[in-house]
Amino acid sequence: MKITIISSDQPRMEIIEQMLLKVPAGRSVALYLGGMNDLSVAMDQTKPDLLIIDGLIDVAAQLGGLETAMACHPGVACVLVCSAPSSELLMAAMRAGVRDVLPSPPDAAALDASLGRIASTLGEASPQVQPGKIMAFIPCKGGSGATFLAANFAYLLATEEKQRVVLLDLNLNFGDASLFVSDQLPQMNLADVCGDMTRLDASLLDASMIHVVHNFSILAAPDSIERAVAIRPEQVEAIIKLAAAEYDFVILDVSRDLGPVVLRALDLADRIFPVLQLTLPFIRDAKRLIGALKSLGYSDDKLGVIVNRLEHNDDIGLADVERTLGLKVMLAVANSFKAVSASVNQGVPIVMLDKKNTVSMSLRLLARQLFPATAARRSGWLGQLFGMV
Ligand SMILES: Nc1ncnc2c1ncn2[C@@H]1O[C@H](COP(=O)(O)OP(=O)(O)OP(=O)(O)O)[C@@H](O)[C@H]1O
Ligand SMILES: [Mg+2]
Repeated sequence: MKITIISSDQPRMEIIEQMLLKVPAGRSVALYLGGMNDLSVAMDQTKPDLLIIDGLIDVAAQLGGLETAMACHPGVACVLVCSAPSSELLMAAMRAGVRDVLPSPPDAAALDASLGRIASTLGEASPQVQPGKIMAFIPCKGGSGATFLAANFAYLLATEEKQRVVLLDLNLNFGDASLFVSDQLPQMNLADVCGDMTRLDASLLDASMIHVVHNFSILAAPDSIERAVAIRPEQVEAIIKLAAAEYDFVILDVSRDLGPVVLRALDLADRIFPVLQLTLPFIRDAKRLIGALKSLGYSDDKLGVIVNRLEHNDDIGLADVERTLGLKVMLAVANSFKAVSASVNQGVPIVMLDKKNTVSMSLRLLARQLFPATAARRSGWLGQLFGMV
């Protein structure tokens, strides 16, 4: 990929160049000292596949000119680097044809991720050959803990397993998954992306999400029920497939109302985790839900039952649940009222608040089932925990 960096600030331009050349395979970088008025000349002279523009003053006011310059150079992708970009600026820049907006000075990982996305659309070989794994969490009854587990599991996969993870909140009417692990208010949501499907690409998806940490993002649920009803299954399918092409794991938080959108999402999932608790009302609904999922043709292997809020003195045992549902319980998560309430009330992931809490340990066990080889190599208290199972 031929990359040109244009900036009025030579030292900063060289910092970006150094970041780009850390992964030099197939990259050549040209530097051009200049500003907005020099864009066309810089592109004519250096003929880049990708133009990185740094240091524009009053970026919003320059987007019109930028759009015109880029229109004269079709096929050149453009990334803007500017200080503290707002979500409004981000969307306006996307509309002007910019592929990505990165905060200044850019972070090497973010720059690399951005280049990876652009390389794949320029037809370059993507390092990721396997699509990401799609995992859906579904409550068997309201309040099972599906959203809490989905959001916290996604965070754990990103921070402890170093995976690139996206969480899609498909609770169309009352989704609140982002609040479980972040204090950021979503500026954009699923309804915004579905309303802009002709422009859907990795950059738009990325710009529409909350970034909890650099390798974990959340696409929030629609902000109103009116907007949720307009969402079509084929739109959600396109978003899930795009996310799977871009991330290692796509975690879906779905509602138990098996409408067309949820069914399309479940069809695409590699695994479905129905979440229930150990009381009769939950088990009754679990039986009905799992029966429905089986009648849709989903194999037992695809279904991984999670029993949440387990107590030692529960009247009903795991064996009773397995007999009733005709499925093995894949994971049992203990009740941990105090730690979970603190996590939920603060919007801070439980593994961040309390790494050794029983719920954190259970989420690690779930991750272990996805990475059995790496788990076996671990040592220390985590290794001992794995060794117990
Ligand atoms: N292991 C646990 N220990 C203690 N409390 C828990 C545990 N798991 C979840 N909770 C509590 O249960 C509450 C409800 O969980 P959550 O919102 O995830 O349920 P849900 O299954 O997604 O429900 P809904 O049907 O509304 O989508 C959480 O706010 C949390 O306080
Ligand atoms: Mg929920």
